[in-house]
Amino acid sequence: MLETISTRQSAGISFSEFKSLPPEELTQRIASVRERLGPSLVILGHHYQRDEVIAFADARGDSYKLSQYAAENRDCRAIVFCGVHFMAETADILANDPERVSSRGCRATVVLPDLAAGCSMADMAALEQVEECWQELTETLGPDPATPVTYINSAASIKAFCGIHGGVVCTSANARGALEWAFARKNRVLFLPDQHLGRNTGLQMGIPLDEMPVWDPNQPLGGNDPDALRRARIILWRGHCSVHQIFRPEHVHYFREKYPGIRIIVHPECTMEVVSLADEVGSTSKIIRTVAASPPGTRWAIGTELHLVNRLKHEHPDKEIFFLSPVVCMCSTMFRIDLPHLCWALENLAAGTPVNVIEVEPETAQLARVALRRMLEIQS
Ligand code: 13P
Ligand code: SF4
Repeated sequence: MLETISTRQSAGISFSEFKSLPPEELTQRIASVRERLGPSLVILGHHYQRDEVIAFADARGDSYKLSQYAAENRDCRAIVFCGVHFMAETADILANDPERVSSRGCRATVVLPDLAAGCSMADMAALEQVEECWQELTETLGPDPATPVTYINSAASIKAFCGIHGGVVCTSANARGALEWAFARKNRVLFLPDQHLGRNTGLQMGIPLDEMPVWDPNQPLGGNDPDALRRARIILWRGHCSVHQIFRPEHVHYFREKYPGIRIIVHPECTMEVVSLADEVGSTSKIIRTVAASPPGTRWAIGTELHLVNRLKHEHPDKEIFFLSPVVCMCSTMFRIDLPHLCWALENLAAGTPVNVIEVEPETAQLARVALRRMLEIQS
């Protein structure tokens, strides 16, 4: 049985004393640890992080870019990941490739400042459920029933499952390339765990909806009849992102009516109804690039996490930018990384008592790395 993860806790400086420190003191203490640790430390930050946290990132990016950064890291001994759990796991797997460890002379320590920063979508596919699904598909369709493709928003054990079964990991930036890669090997894909990214990408490739059944892990045969599975090109795991689900077609209609000519751009984790009404769809990096490249005066309504949309508003005062929903909704787990947690994690690291160390069990890491390396070979 593959282990997902292990976390190392040492009896370091306790968190409680950091909770009530004023932001100015936290900022100054974080800056001082960074200076002390120099290039042996790198802080990675996902675009959904709070402004005061992302300000400390040595590199900020989408899931693809941050994975690349971890994979290319030769010298640094510690990565503090301001993002969510699956991102830190991925950084550990890629930064601690045996070749890198031997050239560096040690493992890189990967720290997630708050262990409660998970991803609810990643939690929607447990390894036991995926193995059960695979067993049922094998009984119905024969051996090697599909190529498994997992969105990076998944546990290390699911990535390892893809590594074992000739599959690949993808991000929202290269999902189409990953599906093309998978179809070049076999005519059917099991796409985990985000049904929306899988469906939106499949539709973009001209695959009809009735060839993309949904697999509900709580029902026999995923709630499908055997014929539907035989016809399937992409079997979509029934997972979703609760943040991106809040965007609805009526929000697009509202903005189009109120501001004729407005451009709508959304993340592919949104439903197909929303994606089909948008002008553009793409990863967080594509959203940032597209808005930045648009002429002054352009109006945008953006369907992705609130912190990124607010940052874009601030960075582009020459454009009019709206959040594509009247309901203010942010990724509450990304939000858990705050200055007290960052400062606590860094000071413990500097004191030699690292806390919240993310270390994927070696066998799982090795298998997951196979599928992650394939992902990095597919252009974003
Ligand atoms: P990106 O890879 O586009 O940054 O998306 C990550 C994510 O979790 C979106 O919800
Ligand atoms: Fe997960 Fe959604 Fe948060 Fe992204 S926005 S980390 S998919 S819960």
